[in-house]
Amino acid sequence: MNATQEQLKLKLTQALVAAFGTDYTNTDPILVSASNPKFGDYQANVALSLSKKLGKQPRIIATEIVNKLDVSDICEPPEIAGPGFINLKLQTSYLEAQLNAIQADDRLGIPTATNPQKQIVDFSSPNIAKEMHVGHLRSTIIGDSIARILEFCGHDVLRLNHVGDWGTQFGMLITYLREVYPDALTTANALNIGDLVSFYRQAKKRFDEDAVFQENSRQEVVRLQAGAEDTLHAWKLLCEQSRQEFQIIYDLLNVELIERGESFYNPLLPKVVEDLATTGLLEENQGAKCVFLDGFTNREGNPLPLIVQKSDGGYNYATTDLAALGHRIQKDEAKRIVYVTDEGQSNHFTQFFQVARKANWIPEDVELVHVPFGLVLGEDGKKFKTRSGDTVRLRDLLDEAINRARADIEKRLQEDGRVETEEFIQNVAEVVGISAVKYADLSQNRTSSYVFSYDKMLSLKGNTAPYLLYAYVRIQGISRQGNIDFTNLGINRQILLKEDAELTLAKHLLQLDEVIKEVEQDLLPNRLCDYLYQLSDKFNKFYENCPVLKSEEPARTSRLMLCDLTAKTLKLGLSLLGIKVLERM
Ligand code: ARG
Repeated sequence: MNATQEQLKLKLTQALVAAFGTDYTNTDPILVSASNPKFGDYQANVALSLSKKLGKQPRIIATEIVNKLDVSDICEPPEIAGPGFINLKLQTSYLEAQLNAIQADDRLGIPTATNPQKQIVDFSSPNIAKEMHVGHLRSTIIGDSIARILEFCGHDVLRLNHVGDWGTQFGMLITYLREVYPDALTTANALNIGDLVSFYRQAKKRFDEDAVFQENSRQEVVRLQAGAEDTLHAWKLLCEQSRQEFQIIYDLLNVELIERGESFYNPLLPKVVEDLATTGLLEENQGAKCVFLDGFTNREGNPLPLIVQKSDGGYNYATTDLAALGHRIQKDEAKRIVYVTDEGQSNHFTQFFQVARKANWIPEDVELVHVPFGLVLGEDGKKFKTRSGDTVRLRDLLDEAINRARADIEKRLQEDGRVETEEFIQNVAEVVGISAVKYADLSQNRTSSYVFSYDKMLSLKGNTAPYLLYAYVRIQGISRQGNIDFTNLGINRQILLKEDAELTLAKHLLQLDEVIKEVEQDLLPNRLCDYLYQLSDKFNKFYENCPVLKSEEPARTSRLMLCDLTAKTLKLGLSLLGIKVLERM
């Protein structure tokens, strides 16, 4: 609900009380957007719901409410329609005043949250020495956008990268490292073992075919857990190598994260098991320590436990998440913790949230949210793969998007006979390519799977990043063409709304705060995408119908201000999606 709606709601409640008494102080006036713009902007449906209680016809009730309703500073005189709807139409002068106020404000009139909180967004979180795959790409893009939106709302956001940097796989990797780079373990230098993914594959191959290698790997895990110096050194080398590869992706995507991997919580794991034991929730099952869960059964229909310590003493993914949860609540003092992973992990989150709740570890004012997302599919509708059937390397995927964006711009330049510098072309290609990938992901409802198509995401038509970027560029083009300085529009600075297209655009411009509030709550960035797409569309309709540079004053300056406010709104909205704008493209 935006500020206008809140005011209308308040005034409707006051009218209800004035008409029917204080019993109605908490009656919801049922204010909704008008079902048809012909009838106005909002409608209040409360009269229909009170008919039985008051023993009167809804139309009569509506009349009694309207008689007490004073919205003369916001709306045209209210009208009663149909069986008893109260229709409200915003006054043009009210809209003008709102627009004039927000266009001068850095935040475009969007207030910060009334209850700023410490919030954690746990996202990206790839695994060391393993492929950072498209699932991690989605997590990175969606998590970054959510973090940006929460930050903009005024929350104190901690962006955590919960990398998988601990576990038995390191035994195998370190054993292999000793085999192929014996010197690496004794020298202090960072090492370059090239592609870590193929290193992982080779290590796995050795592990699978050689029993001695397997035994050495097991020893190495023990040494790692005991903190043996040379083994720890090898572990650090491997992590560092992965970190560098991940960083290339984060730089390309312009995403910032604080690494706090699984190893960070390692020292806290025994305590998790101890604490669970004191709550009485812990049970021994075939040597493993576990907590039985409500609502989860295995294939045989027997109750399913969450194993927090295996029979060999090792800990699980969930144990680490429980330890991390404690740390985040107690040390970080987070009030909301948001986890962004593929929906394949939904059970994992439901389960460990349940265990933490049962153990009474979650204070009432702390909210835990799993933000699941669907798969990335190839154009054949199957899991996204390269032509040869391998998983796609993220770097290749992003490079390909940039290269294709580059080919597009080069073609356009040639067609238009335009000459631009290499620097310009490369910058456009990078911004467009990366934006296209991000936007294609964010514009879908995250819970659905989506088909990855370079052609679609790079198209200048449709709900794509290039389309939105182009709307912005178009507006900057108007200012260049008219030699306009948007920051200095002179004494006619006043938005005046006459044409329908102006009003439609104006009303949409005033809805951004509502959209941001929604995303702050339900963490669905696709709503912001929809909003921006519609904004571009409404702007284009306005621009087709209302001449800007060629019109007379005061319409000219007013329209220039509408252009500028549209551009500012696009820029702000896109920045919350992690997308940069271009002045020209
Ligand atoms: N490393 C995990 C994976 O690649 C994701 C971790 C998500 N965060 C968490 N706290 N469990 O699947």
